[in-house]
Amino acid sequence: MKINARLKKIGDLAPANSFCLDIGCDHALLDIYLVHKNKNIKAVASDIAEGPLEQAKENIKRERLEKEIEVRLGDGLSTYSKEIDTIIISGMGGRNIIGICKKDLKILKNIDTLIISPNNYQEDVKRYLCKNGFYIENEEFVKDKKFIYQIIIFKKGKRKYTNIEYFFGPVFLVKKGVLFREYYEREMKSREILLTILPGKYKLKKKRIKKEIEMIKNEIED
Ligand SMILES: C[S@@+](CC[C@H](N)C(=O)[O-])C[C@H]1O[C@@H](n2cnc3c(N)ncnc32)[C@H](O)[C@@H]1O
Repeated sequence: MKINARLKKIGDLAPANSFCLDIGCDHALLDIYLVHKNKNIKAVASDIAEGPLEQAKENIKRERLEKEIEVRLGDGLSTYSKEIDTIIISGMGGRNIIGICKKDLKILKNIDTLIISPNNYQEDVKRYLCKNGFYIENEEFVKDKKFIYQIIIFKKGKRKYTNIEYFFGPVFLVKKGVLFREYYEREMKSREILLTILPGKYKLKKKRIKKEIEMIKNEIED
């Protein structure tokens, strides 16, 4: 089955021999890719909505992977079971992802790896998970059509990060590269536009945005 560049990259980052729970699987294309990649990965495809799960079941059946991929209906981590060691959450807003984790924080204590790709509020997701038992092992950008997405690999453990590391991503700051520059050039432009439309009364917000623009300039210009 055809898979887009974003999901393929997420799939390529999943650890070999892992048992993955894909929360918000939608069509389950990622799970099908994971199992086909033959890294001895087992997967549970779960979603809160019945419609997507019906589509997922059809896709899994068409690929004859009913034995390898289990489908579960439920909200967030409610579909967890104890054989799972890796959780994938992608294609959702960062606040929804934090909400899912917050609801069942105890479950995350059993998890070794989180593969998270939020559509927004990436910094908030990093801060939340790093305050709750994980550190950032890797960060990757992937460009799919005209969008650039972040994929963050969290591992169980503790590390301290500075505000600048949280803002850019501690691994991104070290690796940088072409997509880092393109991503943060876009972030800078959107902040410059925001500055022109924000009414004068938002003084503090404007100050923070100006500071962020300076931080971005410093990082992409060296
Ligand atoms: C935009 S799709 C993303 C699908 C896929 N993960 C991807 O990256 O392309 C978001 C999916 O998450 C599901 N979803 C949203 N909130 C959820 C929750 N709390 N628990 C489980 N699934 C959820 C939606 O029903 C939808 O199918």
